[in-house]
Amino acid sequence: SWNMDSFIEQKIKEIKEKVGDKKVLCALSGGVDSSVAAVLVHKAVGDNLTCIFVDHGLLRKNEGDEVERIFKKEFSMNLIRVNAQDRFLNKLKGVSEPENKRKIIGEEFIRVFEEESNKLGKIDFLVQGTIYPDIIESGAGDSGASTIKSHHNVGGIPEDIEFEIMEPLRELFKDEVRKLGLELGIPKNLIFRHPFPGPGLGIRVIGEVTKEKLDILREADAIYIEELKNSGLYDKIWQAFATLPDVKTVGVMGDERTYAYLVGLRAVTSSDGMTSDWYKMPYDVLEKISNRIVNEVDGVNRVVYDITSKPPGTIEWE
Ligand code: XMP
Repeated sequence: SWNMDSFIEQKIKEIKEKVGDKKVLCALSGGVDSSVAAVLVHKAVGDNLTCIFVDHGLLRKNEGDEVERIFKKEFSMNLIRVNAQDRFLNKLKGVSEPENKRKIIGEEFIRVFEEESNKLGKIDFLVQGTIYPDIIESGAGDSGASTIKSHHNVGGIPEDIEFEIMEPLRELFKDEVRKLGLELGIPKNLIFRHPFPGPGLGIRVIGEVTKEKLDILREADAIYIEELKNSGLYDKIWQAFATLPDVKTVGVMGDERTYAYLVGLRAVTSSDGMTSDWYKMPYDVLEKISNRIVNEVDGVNRVVYDITSKPPGTIEWE
């Protein structure tokens, strides 16, 4: 049977022996897997580990600051936050097709990551947060299953990389990674956060991505998630998020006609993300969320709830 303490001990010993005085690099996204992998390796090699966190500007409200606070301040890790928001926005200008957006975000991520890592001198190892199901899934992909969406895991690495890949979580399932993360002292809210796609809000702003739309979406999403937590529903849901379609509709506020964006709310239950049911959200919670978003977020005058399961819908709208 699997024992956490001996796993940690064993891994740390293994990593220490392997790395010695060499340098290790990690692409930290703030997601569960890359966070747990980074903290585990940090325990083993300390300052010989450098983490690069690419802030592509497609993160949720306060997310970038949170990641910096946790890993730099609390864990005292060598963390380089690259503020690349403008670069990504420029690349995305005029682009509205979802797969093109994914491709651009994935490629730009690699470019930024490479530029940063080149500044660091010789690096010997690269940490990846690969877990056991990732290995199974990519195997299934090779056997000819068609790709419905290209899943760029931001944190994906350049192909011509000359580092040795280190995957300390590759035998673990998600629930084991979470246990490990808690044991290592990573905050609960990070460990139990809903899945978040690598391209981030880039595929939740539907159509062309602009700073204005990102800011609106971030505010609406933050209210939505806050209310789910307040009502105790967050942990019952596999994934919940707001989207911002490229649509304006007419409304009325006070005596005035408004013409503003509409926000789409998505919440699903699932066990692996491959299929999902839309979550039967209590009306009073929906009502509160809708009222708050329309009242508090400038530029939004309507809220809709997505009642499509997967299939035929996907979880994300793009
Ligand atoms: P879909 O929308 O395909 O999503 O039903 C299934 C799960 O995968 C996530 N997802 C992504 N994750 N890069 C990622 O790292 C992507 O491009 C991407 N697209 C979707 C989605 O959030 C859900 O958890």
